[in-house]
Amino acid sequence: MSFITGLTRMWLTRTVQPFKFKNEYDQILPFAECENLGIYVHIPFCKSICNFCPYCKVLYSEELCERYIDSLIQEIHLTGGLHTKKKAVTSLYFGGGTPALVAGRIKEIIDAVNEYFIITEGIGVELHPDNVNEEVLQILKDAGVTKISIGIQSFCGKYQNILGRKKIDTSAMMSALAAVSFETVSMDFIFALPGQTCDDLSSDIDQAFSLGANHVAIYPFIDFTFTESPVSAMPRKEKRELLDAITKYCLSKGYSRSSIWTFSSEPDANYSSMTRDNFLGFGCSATSLLKEQFKINTFDVESYCERIRSGKLPTSLTIRFTRRQRMIYWLFWTAYSTKVKAGDFEKFFGVSLKRMYGFEIWIAKRLGFINEHGGTYEMTLKGAFYYHYYENFYTLSYIDKMWGIMRKEAFPEHIEL
Ligand SMILES: C[S@@+](CC[C@H](N)C(=O)[O-])C[C@H]1O[C@@H](n2cnc3c(N)ncnc32)[C@H](O)[C@@H]1O
Ligand code: SF4
Repeated sequence: MSFITGLTRMWLTRTVQPFKFKNEYDQILPFAECENLGIYVHIPFCKSICNFCPYCKVLYSEELCERYIDSLIQEIHLTGGLHTKKKAVTSLYFGGGTPALVAGRIKEIIDAVNEYFIITEGIGVELHPDNVNEEVLQILKDAGVTKISIGIQSFCGKYQNILGRKKIDTSAMMSALAAVSFETVSMDFIFALPGQTCDDLSSDIDQAFSLGANHVAIYPFIDFTFTESPVSAMPRKEKRELLDAITKYCLSKGYSRSSIWTFSSEPDANYSSMTRDNFLGFGCSATSLLKEQFKINTFDVESYCERIRSGKLPTSLTIRFTRRQRMIYWLFWTAYSTKVKAGDFEKFFGVSLKRMYGFEIWIAKRLGFINEHGGTYEMTLKGAFYYHYYENFYTLSYIDKMWGIMRKEAFPEHIEL
């Protein structure tokens, strides 16, 4: 598996050099020069831990959580204060973990961000179904939150059991969502669970829209090596049939596809912290992607607080990209939206996409992965499946390996992928 991703990486980046992450880092982050910059804030606390979940999180403790939020605000000041002029950013997303466990402090965090940045497209927060009540929603709304995303996983008892999740009180959820409105109400589902059918998924999606969602995300289940999930991955052929069937179902109902995994029932509903050219990440495990570098913060909550206390950034690893590496990174994450505009690539890199990857575009067209309309490359159903398939490889070859190490070591010396 890593052989395939390794070969592809060498081909696309035109070098045998692996991605080298080192423990050296800059105290000054050159974000002022970045356009289309997003902000992500990580809150790594959960009331109980799900065995399938790969994200950086620990069991909630009030004392640790309070200390963490103080450090987080300090990190925002450390980075934000590096530049004198306020910087426009597209969005601010809170992920976790379970950010709503600190609903009462979300405003303080937003205020700290607002001191240095101007948020132009709204603020999103991830919620656990247990957090969806009128009181929490109102606190978030009053703090300035405009989008929420609820981790449903499945409404079906069978899959809730397999995933170790509780039954969801859907009528309470529906009345809370009706009482407090948001621009986007997204619901997350896990797709390609063993034996899952298109009917299972379509009934989940229909229920989501009838409860008050206007956006859904169906994330393919990934069996990370370091998690202890008893769930195994669905075979490839079955998965492809399921993805095609559910995509056709959503399109037939008039839901539009806003990215590989998301569908919306209203044109303005969107929820994505990923499709940004550049982003700044605050908190444990948060990543920052800038023009020429990518950095990842430590996963360890205590080490995070300690670094901040000493006035330093909590960066654990940094990679300084070659130009080709940065191009591949850009293309990979832009393609997540199912569309790549040649003009955007040229604006970012100052060179035409055709000149850099003309041969690959030709092959992708011949294989029926993409269509071209007036300088925009759009993924076909087949292309979307293979993107998904490749993303799975990428996740297991790169993210699984990196997160596996970072969970054990707060500041590893280096990682080569
Ligand atoms: C941070 S959680 C969402 C908020 C909240 N913590 C919750 O669990 O409801 C982010 C989402 O990642 C997805 N996810 C978690 N583990 C996954 C896995 N192994 N494979 C695919 N998706 C996964 C789930 O859909 C989950 O809702
Ligand atoms: S899925 Fe959500 S609640 Fe479960 S451990 Fe992961 S972040 Fe926490």
